[in-house]
Amino acid sequence: MSSKSLKVLVLHGPNLNLLGKREPGIYGQQTLQHIESLLEAEASCLGVKLSSQQSNHEGVLIDQIQGTLGVFDGLLINPAAYTHTSVAIRDAIAAVAIPTVEVHLSNIHKREAFRHHSYIAPVAIGQISGFGVESYRLGLQALVTHLRSR
Ligand code: DQA
Repeated sequence: MSSKSLKVLVLHGPNLNLLGKREPGIYGQQTLQHIESLLEAEASCLGVKLSSQQSNHEGVLIDQIQGTLGVFDGLLINPAAYTHTSVAIRDAIAAVAIPTVEVHLSNIHKREAFRHHSYIAPVAIGQISGFGVESYRLGLQALVTHLRSR
């Protein structure tokens, strides 16, 4: 491991603040707070620093992505519904060229047709979808492995 810790920004998109209550048959019983603790534990095993934010607002997510410039080494993002609609979030990631992993709790490819397309996937290193809260842990591991192999 290098002497300087890698810094990763974790962004959660709209409605993910309602995890635990929101369509538990699809998204599970676990809350966003649970996901945050799981990621903190994984980050400490991996020796990286995390900062996390959830927002229901596209512009707030874009400001956060722009703010990674010169501050964060990688981005772990569940863009939620903006995955399927937001050219602006895609452009923000491309603009700052931050190594990004896209994660989803549910398998978006197994669901409604409108969820099959992601605007984010073409600007991400990769996408992890369908493993519930494990998608986040796997996503963080993949991102850190990628950052360390550069
Ligand atoms: C989601 C999948 C999206 O299609 C949906 O709009 C979400 C959550 C997921 O984590 O499975 O809000 O990103």
